[in-house]
Amino acid sequence: MNSGSVDLIYLDPPFNSNHDYAAPIGSKAAGAAFKDTWTLSDVDVQWINLIEAKHPNLHRLLLASLTDSDKSYLAYMSVRLLEIHRILAPTGSIYLHCDPTMSHYLKLTMDAIFGRKRFQNEFIWYYGGGGASTRRWGRKHDVLLFYARGEEWTFNADPVREPHKWTDGQRRADGSERSSKGKLADDVWQHHSVMPWSKERTGYPTQKPLALLTRILRASSRPGDMILDPFCGCATACIAAAQTDRRWVGIDIAPKAAELVERRMRDEVPLLTDRAIHRRDIPQRTDLGDVIPYNAARNKRHLYGEQEGCCSGCGEHFRARNLEVDHIVPRAKGGTDHLGNLQLLCGHCNRVKGDRGMEYLRAKLHIAA
Ligand SMILES: C[S@@+](CC[C@H](N)C(=O)[O-])C[C@H]1O[C@@H](n2cnc3c(N)ncnc32)[C@H](O)[C@@H]1O
Ligand SMILES: [Zn+2]
Repeated sequence: MNSGSVDLIYLDPPFNSNHDYAAPIGSKAAGAAFKDTWTLSDVDVQWINLIEAKHPNLHRLLLASLTDSDKSYLAYMSVRLLEIHRILAPTGSIYLHCDPTMSHYLKLTMDAIFGRKRFQNEFIWYYGGGGASTRRWGRKHDVLLFYARGEEWTFNADPVREPHKWTDGQRRADGSERSSKGKLADDVWQHHSVMPWSKERTGYPTQKPLALLTRILRASSRPGDMILDPFCGCATACIAAAQTDRRWVGIDIAPKAAELVERRMRDEVPLLTDRAIHRRDIPQRTDLGDVIPYNAARNKRHLYGEQEGCCSGCGEHFRARNLEVDHIVPRAKGGTDHLGNLQLLCGHCNRVKGDRGMEYLRAKLHIAA
């Protein structure tokens, strides 16, 4: 995905809970399962080396994790959060949904990637209900870490106002009327989890209530915005987005999740036609060896065909050997080695552009002409 292309990201990743989740047999989601146990693998070690080279602050945090399982989990989350940071729009924001198992580590990780100043809230979703404990306080809340990408961000306070409680009274201490619009919301929200008898229940393990996602979307995005949930499960965030006129992308490793996205879209978003859902099945990457270096012959051949042999700067036709592979968004500014971020430039244009963006090259070429 392109840098700066997403307005709001909600993610509810595995929690490092040491559980493996499976949906009950007979439910709509039967067959869905995902692992939530972590051990340090070769791939993690490669990622950790990469993080050490490129993000020394983040690497220091990884070294502070107490067990290999935590380290593996945090390496996994770090590489994803770095990509999330890259693809968020300058005014975008992110809600990282976790629970107290790892929220303290994840907050440090977010500080390292987004910057402490970008922290907005530790939003508490209090769901109550269910079993209780006599050995400690009942564990009944999740934590949503809310960070902005930059200095400006979308926040609509009005649509998420809450009704005054009767104890608040009609008048303030100074005698003035309270607003009938309701009171501005704070960072604790009470709402039950998806109940066995709820209409929205799919049986997908860890399904979140639609009301929670709708609330987040109303506050932190606008109609037409692009919403991403990279661990979308049974599509709660995608449904909330479609129902409130946002555009959306959902990603999940479980094929069952993709099926549920399609099913729920049909059932719960009446005006959506099949053509409005584009499903892409992407082969799972199992190791870093699959990343093609940007200047691989394969990339060059592909780009040469795509650009019909022309330099994407000056537009002139060249032989393949006179064209060079260039990063459209420079590596230094977060551009990746993915094909979507690559182009061919003639030697001259490439020299002029150097480590800068295309605006620079275009401006220079314009002046030269
Ligand atoms: C806690 S659940 C999300 C539930 C979701 N918020 C909902 O309301 O249904 C986590 C999801 O992450 C998915 N997942 C696990 N590992 C993944 C990976 N490497 N990439 C993408 N999705 C993954 C699981 O299949 C699962 O659906
Ligand atoms: Zn050129």
